[in-house]
Amino acid sequence: MKYRRLIEKMTLEEKASLMSGKDFWQSMDIQRLGINSMFLSDGPHGIRKQAAAADHLGLNPSVPSTCFPTAATIANSWNEELGEKIGGFLGEEAVSLKVNVLLGPGINMKRNPLCGRNFEYFSEDPYLAGKMAVNYIKGIQSKGISACVKHFAVNNQEERRMAIDTIVDERTLREIYLTAFEMAVKEGGTKTIMSSYNMLNGIYTNENLHLMREILRDEWCYQGVVVTDWGGSNDRVAGLIAGNELEMPTTGEETNIDIINSIKNGKIKEELLDESVDRILDLIFTTEEVFKQSYHDFDIDKHHRMAQFASEESIVLLKNESNILPLKTGTKVAIIGDFAKNPRYQGAGSSVVNPTKLDNTLECLDESGIVSLGYAAGFKRYGKKSSKLIREACELAKGADVVLLYLGLDEATEAEGLERQDMKLPQNQIDLIEEISKVNSNIVAILSCGSVVEMPWIYKVKGLLHGYLGGQAGARAMLRIISGDVNPSGKLAETYPISYEDTPSFNNFPGKEVTVEYREGIYIGYRYYDTADIEVLFPFGYGLSYTKFEYSDMKVNQYGVTFKITNTGKISGKEIAQLYVGCKSKNIFRPQKELKGFIKIFINEGETKKVTIPFDDKTFRYFNVKTNKWEVEEADYEIMVGTSSRDIKLNDNIFIEGTGAPLPYDKHKIPSYFSGKVKNVSTDEFEALIIRRVPEAKWDRSKPLGYNDTVAQCQYAKGVVARFAFKLISFAYWFLRKIGKRKTANIIMMSIYHMPFRGISRMTGGVINMPMVDGILMMVNGRFFKGLNYFLKQRSKMLKEIKIKSARTVEKISTEAAKER
Ligand code: BGC
Repeated sequence: MKYRRLIEKMTLEEKASLMSGKDFWQSMDIQRLGINSMFLSDGPHGIRKQAAAADHLGLNPSVPSTCFPTAATIANSWNEELGEKIGGFLGEEAVSLKVNVLLGPGINMKRNPLCGRNFEYFSEDPYLAGKMAVNYIKGIQSKGISACVKHFAVNNQEERRMAIDTIVDERTLREIYLTAFEMAVKEGGTKTIMSSYNMLNGIYTNENLHLMREILRDEWCYQGVVVTDWGGSNDRVAGLIAGNELEMPTTGEETNIDIINSIKNGKIKEELLDESVDRILDLIFTTEEVFKQSYHDFDIDKHHRMAQFASEESIVLLKNESNILPLKTGTKVAIIGDFAKNPRYQGAGSSVVNPTKLDNTLECLDESGIVSLGYAAGFKRYGKKSSKLIREACELAKGADVVLLYLGLDEATEAEGLERQDMKLPQNQIDLIEEISKVNSNIVAILSCGSVVEMPWIYKVKGLLHGYLGGQAGARAMLRIISGDVNPSGKLAETYPISYEDTPSFNNFPGKEVTVEYREGIYIGYRYYDTADIEVLFPFGYGLSYTKFEYSDMKVNQYGVTFKITNTGKISGKEIAQLYVGCKSKNIFRPQKELKGFIKIFINEGETKKVTIPFDDKTFRYFNVKTNKWEVEEADYEIMVGTSSRDIKLNDNIFIEGTGAPLPYDKHKIPSYFSGKVKNVSTDEFEALIIRRVPEAKWDRSKPLGYNDTVAQCQYAKGVVARFAFKLISFAYWFLRKIGKRKTANIIMMSIYHMPFRGISRMTGGVINMPMVDGILMMVNGRFFKGLNYFLKQRSKMLKEIKIKSARTVEKISTEAAKER
């Protein structure tokens, strides 16, 4: 242990106190030993440091900071260097705001396009997400503070996120859901990891010994700190045993007592606590060093320009019929769509940043050189179809050479804590496209959405640009692409299926009651569409440029692949070349191809560049469930280089010697996995994959409700009052939506409806303790008066204890002061 001497000076109480927060955002300090608090702040694309009222839902404002494009956006840049730069800028801002731990990046996989938090995550592909994460971490940590990758792991739905049990087989877990985390630990050297709220195969991730000890600590040799997601601690002692150092936010010392008692009664050894204390001290001491250096404010304008550059690198050109883009000089445009006036530039929830500045399209038009005839809103962001607005928009569109149509999803649709209800754009926007296309066929649609949308209307537009959520300078960046000042170079980091029904997890998302079953196994995103040969709207890795690239001269050897790319167009541009690998043997089921490398490269017009993409430890590996290890199968492998997963330009084969492991599967038992057609996997097949019975997915409505049941489950509680309360909450939600207050309605879902009962204590900073939760549960389970009585008794007991404690503290302080005198 690094800090043994210091730890020896601590009392048991002091050591335990370091294991949970001091308040909502800070860790505990011990001033007599020179141990300071650490400040932890969201978030992944800008600092959300709350100076006054604190919350984890993004409700109260934070100190202004640069709002960079969200992870879903930056992933489209496929630019690792850019990731590191943004990380550096985020790190610098965090330092200037005295933040020790930046709660990001979020690196969960996009299992399903409707997950409400997809805008905060990089990709459906673990390799791409992993590489971006590694670079963010390096950038952030180069400034002396710590990144915190989250949410470890398999947190791929928002509904019931604090209670849902993810049922997933070991190979899928390793290959799809853990690989990005593995890279963040091994390559990125992240100093902090946030455990997720959910359960993994029956055990909360924060307490899951397989995940937290066997994989994270033993296999990956992780030396850093694990922090719970806010309010995500279930059994504090079980968390400590699994290696969780820090529980956030504070529980008013309640869980410290659990730790102290479990040491006193011999359940755990004090050394275990010491090891955790050692790791947390290391995080505190190493991240506060930088605050001792001279303080400087960050340069707001410089950071804004960086946000703009990041957005320019990430915008994806999806359609460009008759080369409608870039706009020819002098083209007269009509600007239509509410998103041109009120940019949608980030998602909702804990990642919400209070931007230092905010560009909007209308205000940036002048400098872009684009000739505008005027603006019309066309639709109400939160309202129903408005014939008047459509009429005005059509009038304007009639006289224009080109219509720039700004569309998107609203702030209440893509939010933490909830899933999207469908994959469509709002109907009033689709109606607008329809009507405008009748008066002007030169439409360029500009999308602002943090995730995938269906586009049955795509035939009505000639140009289509997707800016995702472009951060505070996204509007200006988009205009620079439209005008041709910047050649678009982003490519999609996720597949666009034609319709939601096509998605592999369509039948198993989200889990509504006890579990969510990952029946599609390793086949998420393009791994599914390409293997099962499903037609898609836009493949993974797809994106156009204003120039053209040609690929040639591929050479493969044991170290990697080299090839040439020529820019055959008339302007310079950047190309993203992607390396995919597919195994020719059919002994072990595999996706038809998997991304194993990529490069983004700038090439002048007419120029040819030679490119190398090296193989690495992930190129040929698969996880063998028989040997419980990563293995390589001896086989021929197809090496493919393409501009997207569906546009392979060059390919060759290479024979690779294997590790000689026994074959892990019986083909006859799991035919769907061997064919890749996994949309309707039977229970028998899924059981053969997970090698156990599928656990009960439905609530047992005969059982009384417990700590880990959620408020939503009051719908079948024994207590009349609880059932009534449930009806009231549901009514409030329905009513708020009805009157158009969708954001407020969402808060009910996020903070009440899906909250487990234990969360009442874990999130109230000691105001309500677990014995009081016992009282609440008695009431919920039909013993109302007994429960109320118990609740009140526990409350006055707690208040008495607080009084005694503060009297003791006052006494201690005055004795110490007297001694000093
Ligand atoms: C989110 C985390 C976030 C934390 C603190 C939680 O609700 O899941 O991503 O870092 O709140 O705001």
